[in-house]
Amino acid sequence: MGFFNFILQVVAVLICSCSFVSFAVHGNKIGSNGIPSTLDGPFAPHTAPFDVSLRGNAVDLPDTDPRVRRRVKGFQPEQISVSLSTTYDSVWISWITGEFQISNHDKNIIPLDPKSVASVVRYGTSRNPLNHEAKGYSLVYSQLYPFEGLQNYTSGIIHHARLTGLKPDKLYYYRCGDPSIGALSGVYSFKTMPVSSPNSYPKRIAIMGDLGLTYNTSTTINHVISNDPQLALLVGDVTYANLYLTNGTGSDCYSCAFPDSPIHETYQPRWDYWGRFMQPLVSKVPLMVVEGNHEIEKQVENQTFVAYSSRFAFPAKESGSSSTFYYSFNAGGIHFVMLGAYIAYHKSSDQYKWLERDLANVDRSITPWLVAVWHPPLV
Ligand SMILES: [Fe+2]
Repeated sequence: MGFFNFILQVVAVLICSCSFVSFAVHGNKIGSNGIPSTLDGPFAPHTAPFDVSLRGNAVDLPDTDPRVRRRVKGFQPEQISVSLSTTYDSVWISWITGEFQISNHDKNIIPLDPKSVASVVRYGTSRNPLNHEAKGYSLVYSQLYPFEGLQNYTSGIIHHARLTGLKPDKLYYYRCGDPSIGALSGVYSFKTMPVSSPNSYPKRIAIMGDLGLTYNTSTTINHVISNDPQLALLVGDVTYANLYLTNGTGSDCYSCAFPDSPIHETYQPRWDYWGRFMQPLVSKVPLMVVEGNHEIEKQVENQTFVAYSSRFAFPAKESGSSSTFYYSFNAGGIHFVMLGAYIAYHKSSDQYKWLERDLANVDRSITPWLVAVWHPPLV
């Protein structure tokens, strides 16, 4: 049986050359029951021919595209997504309620109160009744530019709730929202990861990088959906909101088109467009994200990565990390290490120490695959 039609049918959709997934070999070779693992590598890479149907020039989806428009009313949930915790028995559900605000003048924006809308997920193994309930937390973030004429942005209410006590390899149904104000979503479903063992793996894993929100993104996501993955990884560079000015004017080459901007601006509504566009995939298939350079998005007081850190749920705390920039999780017999390339990783850094602890806890007889992920090329 060929390697690529065996355990991991990786649907690799790396749009440009600046994102990589490294397969790390660590520890001693073990008996693998004929199932190859990273202990048996390195393997010859398989390269698929370039899909000529993809357009050479990526053209952004406009804000008039129905797939990026707001389709809910009031505080009904939107931009619904699933992400994994460290082990099969827990996942995160994330969603947004209320509308973002954008304005030239600070005084025009009164951020929504995150506490005004509850964060509730009802879930179970049958569609009706959903007899488990999880309560989460909520937040609002801002992207502020203290320069005359630039527009400030404040998000809708972002909710994250962690479901626990899940069984492996099982379909779960869920609704999220605030039942006390009649704002629960429709019923969605996801499948949990299999138990961690050398003989059980997710059926397919989609690995994407530099995704953006273009007509090519649309082709890519349709391709991923048609391959029915059980898990998706996004290896940094998410929305490319930083190729826009705060007034919504975009350019393929930000620095050549807007050299006089006082700060590298972003147009944060692109994140909301992206969340809506991605919902059909990520409300069903868990998505694990790590940061890329396009997520830096510097703003007031030198804050960076605020949209990235606020909008996604990460199993950071569960994996012993104190940062949204690096974390780890298991998916069947694979231990994934998601590494931060835009935070210190020298030997005395917190990330390095965390990685040492994380790797020391890996049992290759349980997870014989060890996959390390980060955004830029290793040089
Ligand atoms: Fe990049």
